[in-house]
Amino acid sequence: MMTTSGTDGRESRARAFPEGFLWGTATSAYQVEGGAQSDGRGPSVWDTFSHTPGKVRGGDTGDIACDFYHRSEDDLDRLKALGLAAFRFSVSWPRLQAEGRGAVNQRGLDFYRSLVDGLLARAIEPTITLYHWDLPQALEDEGGWAKRDTAERFAEYAEIVAEAIGDVGGMWITVNEPQVVAHEGYRIGMHAPGHRDDALAAAATHHLLLAHGLALPRLRAAMPAARVGITFDMHPVRALGSGAEEAARITEAEQNRIFFDPVVHGRYPAAARGNLLPPSSLVRDGDLELVGAPIDFLGVNYYSPTFVKLVGACGQEAGETSIAGMPGVVAVKPEHLPRTSQGWLVDPEGLYDLLVTVAGEIPPGCPIYVTENGCAAEDYVTPEGEVNDVERIDYLHGHLGAAWRAIQDGVPLAGYFYWSLFDNFEWAWGYQKRFGLVFVDFPTQRRIPKRSATFYSGVARANALPYAPNGATPGRPERVTGELVDA
Ligand code: BG6
Repeated sequence: MMTTSGTDGRESRARAFPEGFLWGTATSAYQVEGGAQSDGRGPSVWDTFSHTPGKVRGGDTGDIACDFYHRSEDDLDRLKALGLAAFRFSVSWPRLQAEGRGAVNQRGLDFYRSLVDGLLARAIEPTITLYHWDLPQALEDEGGWAKRDTAERFAEYAEIVAEAIGDVGGMWITVNEPQVVAHEGYRIGMHAPGHRDDALAAAATHHLLLAHGLALPRLRAAMPAARVGITFDMHPVRALGSGAEEAARITEAEQNRIFFDPVVHGRYPAAARGNLLPPSSLVRDGDLELVGAPIDFLGVNYYSPTFVKLVGACGQEAGETSIAGMPGVVAVKPEHLPRTSQGWLVDPEGLYDLLVTVAGEIPPGCPIYVTENGCAAEDYVTPEGEVNDVERIDYLHGHLGAAWRAIQDGVPLAGYFYWSLFDNFEWAWGYQKRFGLVFVDFPTQRRIPKRSATFYSGVARANALPYAPNGATPGRPERVTGELVDA
């Protein structure tokens, strides 16, 4: 660690990350590509869902999104200019198999071939997600993730991608955030395909995991040099006040462990409630061995923690959200924590806690990557043409500080991907929430790197987090600059 004496007499420190720490940004196909009907792409559940009135804010769809499908060369130059070593993107299954099975659409494959070649030519490591929520609609019509067959089809598709572009090596993520797919897509219907059915969600839970388990050996056989893992959205769950510990334990099992435990420990968590767990009739002999087979890395997406408490004597109060199936327990957002413009809690400490917990359970030698972390902010372009997103810089500073501390405390964290490179189609939020390092003016497709892009690029180039004066973060964004005090 480098230290210097600050001008005010206090010691200042730039916090160096380990050599080789991987700095990247993340995107996903439906959120950025557009080209919804280009070159033989078939419809996905998100095309159907976003075109259904009332499902996405403002009636937005991913038809055009950031038009990345047609602008990727220029965008890769932008990425290169940021000096980041890795780029996470997802492959669109319906672009390769319009109906989720059968013959491969060569034009779709050509796009990803040129994308990975373009990355390698710029010395950027591809990090490839195989499933980031855009299930071919034809498979949903046959039952989607509630059907075992979908997991089999996924494994075939995964092998096709590996055989076509697996020579690039790098990191491969089978499934992104299966918990969100099962919960939002099948249990509460806020995401595609929009079901509200516990039994479908429990079945989807098992089949998403099985998809990962069936794909693993095929991916390994097709590309021995690549590293294969999976990405979970994880939330530290905290009990507020006495008596809420049991509710926190159950919530933690249902939000995190229902996917984490089968992959890491080869079993479903006993603490999750029965109606969320897949029924034994769906779990065949050998399934959990497949799901729990060793992975080469674990991807963790962190945005915010969950707080639960018991309903007080006066009943449920404003700002408290009931939890389905848990009478007397509510989720709350404590006043002392800042929130993003989306209302999500900002709590870097949550990232630290999560990383330490995960590191204590994964097998020795399995590195962790933060495959997503980021925030939506009320970004706008000034008359001078700049986007001064100081909130995002503050968010990054706080979370990277937490990641750095976790590494000092022994967590095998090997990389960090900011979500997202661009403002993009934010699922049910449409284009109203901007997460990008690069501002996108959607009507013109003009890109403007935000101030946070300069900050993050500086961190990545220096492989160190700049010193910020005491109290500068969180909450005092104006004092955090893109300049390194020492490096
Ligand atoms: C993660 C997803 O859940 O969070 C991303 O993997 C997503 O695809 C990001 O965009 C932000 O979430 P949201 O719900 O605001 O779009």
